[in-house]
Amino acid sequence: MRDVPAPTAPPPLAMLAELTHRCPLSCPYCSNPLELTARQAEMSAEDWARIFREAAALGVLQLHLSGGEPASRPDLAEIVRSAREAGLYTNLITSGIGLTPRRLEELDAAGLDHVQLSVQGVTPEIADRMGGYQGGFARKMQTAVEIARIGFPLTINAVMHRHNLDDLPATLALAADLGARRIEVACVQFQGWALKNRAALQPSRAQVEAAKRTVAEARRIYAGRMAIDFVPPDYFADFPKACMNGWGSTGLNIAPDGKVLPCHAAEIIPGLVFQNARETPLAEIWNGPAFSAFRGTDWLPEPCQSCERRDIDYGGCRCQAMALIGDAKATDPIYRRSPFRGEVDRMIAAETTAAPPPFVYRKLARIAG
Ligand code: FES
Repeated sequence: MRDVPAPTAPPPLAMLAELTHRCPLSCPYCSNPLELTARQAEMSAEDWARIFREAAALGVLQLHLSGGEPASRPDLAEIVRSAREAGLYTNLITSGIGLTPRRLEELDAAGLDHVQLSVQGVTPEIADRMGGYQGGFARKMQTAVEIARIGFPLTINAVMHRHNLDDLPATLALAADLGARRIEVACVQFQGWALKNRAALQPSRAQVEAAKRTVAEARRIYAGRMAIDFVPPDYFADFPKACMNGWGSTGLNIAPDGKVLPCHAAEIIPGLVFQNARETPLAEIWNGPAFSAFRGTDWLPEPCQSCERRDIDYGGCRCQAMALIGDAKATDPIYRRSPFRGEVDRMIAAETTAAPPPFVYRKLARIAG
């Protein structure tokens, strides 16, 4: 391991490792950046093993293996094994496509701790349409059966939007039938590619209110069997979310080429310099310019600086401020006290009263290399 001074900021607890941007699906709500990493630029399993050791030494406890579709990497089991050898808890975030029974057994043998399986819908019609992949739903269901057979703890991830929020009760029932111990119901976050489909995916206020009631009721129904996490859409909230629990506070994301980001979407913020874990020790990056840019609350503008919620939401999401008003330092524009909140309300009204435009699918096969 490289010899570096101890970090001065409290250590991160979790790390998201984006092993590849390759993916068999082409979901319109993909939150990965517009510019994807080509296969040729992906880090090797050896690179990842060294980074995992550095992460563990830095204090990281949980590792989320994501993508793209991590199963697109033939060396996934080797990567999992090295993470477990580094002492990290490993969670695989997957569409399930490409995870054959044999590969799941290899992952079990490598020490994989947990699986998060995404579902795009509760029927083949809606799921395959959303994923842009014919037959994807059926393959996913087969994978879920194998996950249960092996005994991996399972979380279902469901991204919800205008086209499937009305299916929320059925989505919860599907997760319970699949033996999930937890379901994460997240309304689509308009970052990366998803921004291109905002008008097509924007749910109505009535759908969001109905979803909140459904979740409250379902938490009673499934109590003791399945935990339900619900992430309502930012745009309908009065207060911003504490994105990433505060910039540079608890987690770091590593892109397939080794670039280290404070959050998934940070590359849209101009002027930030992202260091690469291939060249620079993680501990140094954690204290480096990108992670320090919005860390803590000293940098916050008004009205956040004097707000009683300053230490609760840290001014909200920097990338959302950038995406909506072109200023990453501004108060998150969804905040009721933001001078831009009226524009957000007008945008929601326009998008939810018009007929949804067709989806713009991303063609990930082109970056498969
Ligand atoms: Fe980057 Fe919220 S996604 S700060």
